[in-house]
Amino acid sequence: MLDRLSPPDRAKLISAYHAMQFVEDEMRVGLGTGSTASWLVKLLGAERHVFGMNIQCVSTSSQTEELATRMGLRMMTLDQAGWLDLVIDGTDEFDPLLSLIKGAGGALLQEKIVATASDRMVVIADPTKQVERLGAFPLPVEIVRFGAEVTKGLIEDKLEGLDVARRATRWRGKDGKQYVTDEGHYLLDLELGEIRDVDTLSQTLLELPGVVETGLFLDIADTVVVGAASGEARLIFGDDPEMLVDIADSEHFDTLMMRLDEAGELE
Ligand code: A5P
Repeated sequence: MLDRLSPPDRAKLISAYHAMQFVEDEMRVGLGTGSTASWLVKLLGAERHVFGMNIQCVSTSSQTEELATRMGLRMMTLDQAGWLDLVIDGTDEFDPLLSLIKGAGGALLQEKIVATASDRMVVIADPTKQVERLGAFPLPVEIVRFGAEVTKGLIEDKLEGLDVARRATRWRGKDGKQYVTDEGHYLLDLELGEIRDVDTLSQTLLELPGVVETGLFLDIADTVVVGAASGEARLIFGDDPEMLVDIADSEHFDTLMMRLDEAGELE
């Protein structure tokens, strides 16, 4: 059944599957946003349907909330949960210290709030997300609408003094219309090429009053699961040795795939 998916989708699904080993019955689990996190939501829905796993979930975006509800997961708000045992989310890039750039899907603010309110953050990724240094992927910055052009100008001034390879900025949007986040803010994507000092960049941006958050997730993730289309995944724990896991001969995996197929969710 895996053959029906494109190799990138297979890698995403495999990383999501192997990350499920961190989810235990009765946990309160944060659900990320994006194409990789969507596989996780579908697999958790299948797990609940077939094996009756009892978890309560908090979503990081309206799109994840909709999918999770469709998949039959028990949802609650972050305020109802109070605190989470675990969040599992995708990423746009991760480096050797497990620092991340997130936010291509536009949900970075809720994603960071949920990750900060969790005991643990497990990141799910395909191999293209692994980099030596962050920055090739544009860094999203969430900005208050009031005075947004002024805040953009201030960010551009600050970038002049920072150690980055490029300094281009671009509003997120389409056909001249600004993208608006779930919380009603704009997103400014910073095309920096390479970020040589992530801490200084993060602090400098967050000091500006019009900046709500950035897509830099520093010292938040503790595990990255990198899936491969073959069925294997590498578990990366920062300083500790990596672990290799595989789905070969996994009846459990086949059962979940059959359920997703039946439900028309295998696409
Ligand atoms: C959503 O806002 C993002 O942070 C996503 O988690 C990130 O862009 C990864 O998305 P994909 O899994 O679709 O690559």
